[in-house]
Amino acid sequence: MKLTERLGILASIARAKRALRLAPGGRPLLASQAHDLSLDDFGRMDDPALAAVWLGHATVLTHLGGKWVLIDPVFSKRVGPRIGPVIQFGPRRLFDSPVEIHELPPIDFILISHAHFDHLDSRSLEVLKSRKTSVITALRTRSLIPRGYRQVVELDWDQSLTIENVTFRAVEPRHWGARWYIDRHRGYNSYLVSSPTISCLLAADTAHTRTYDRLADEVPDLALGVFGIGAYDPWTHQHATPEEAWDMFSVCGARHLMPMHHSTFILSNEPIDEPLRRLYAVAGPEQAARIVGVEPGEIWTSAPSPGERGMGVSAAGRAV
Ligand SMILES: [Fe+2]
Repeated sequence: MKLTERLGILASIARAKRALRLAPGGRPLLASQAHDLSLDDFGRMDDPALAAVWLGHATVLTHLGGKWVLIDPVFSKRVGPRIGPVIQFGPRRLFDSPVEIHELPPIDFILISHAHFDHLDSRSLEVLKSRKTSVITALRTRSLIPRGYRQVVELDWDQSLTIENVTFRAVEPRHWGARWYIDRHRGYNSYLVSSPTISCLLAADTAHTRTYDRLADEVPDLALGVFGIGAYDPWTHQHATPEEAWDMFSVCGARHLMPMHHSTFILSNEPIDEPLRRLYAVAGPEQAARIVGVEPGEIWTSAPSPGERGMGVSAAGRAV
């Protein structure tokens, strides 16, 4: 291996470690405040055809077609069943969201992929509810959405819905949708979100599947694929490994990959830094630049730059 390739891999691993802010021994630290998002940051997401930022776990804020789209908003300190206003079970969040829920821009659409507690957070949905916000969710999950939204629409796989400038298409992932184990009638979705000029795939939770392959032919400008890369040990039948996520991303035709579903809540047995390490390893130094928005609060935009169709820009304005 050439020296430049080795240096590239080392830089990528260092970047992944920085993202996780690991102490010696692999213990996760709370994220620093370096990527706290401000109004100025959201202002920079307005102009490009597509912008996206990972807020931790499966929560991703995107802007396209002039609309703000938020998927699987989870801002609570823990994810799990709750008893009353105080007692909540479930894993604790390892770092704060880069933005407080009340500091978000006015959300036009909330997408809910499925009813698992780490994706459908009732407390967050209570705080977010607005008559200006539409919720798009999976089949037979409407009853879990608090009242007070403009509308709640359930989408079945391959159903599409266009509201104003944005089209949402539910895509079949390989997962399951029960919230309480016995309510297995509930649906579960990935979403293809498109403006007239650009698209992104919000895959949400999925094991390895060939469902997204056809997008390479069907979607002319799939700029971004957001794929989960964690919680695969021992749940490989529900969550893709980093290698499987890279394979699905590569085949679906997306230009950039934003990883999620890692480093935020400990849900599984793999070391917390393993998903990103393995993702950078499978990408290799030649493709590592296609992995974007790795750090919480790191804004990625599709704004073209000379010689590059898309670039990432951190909250601090640093090109990555
Ligand atoms: Fe999940």
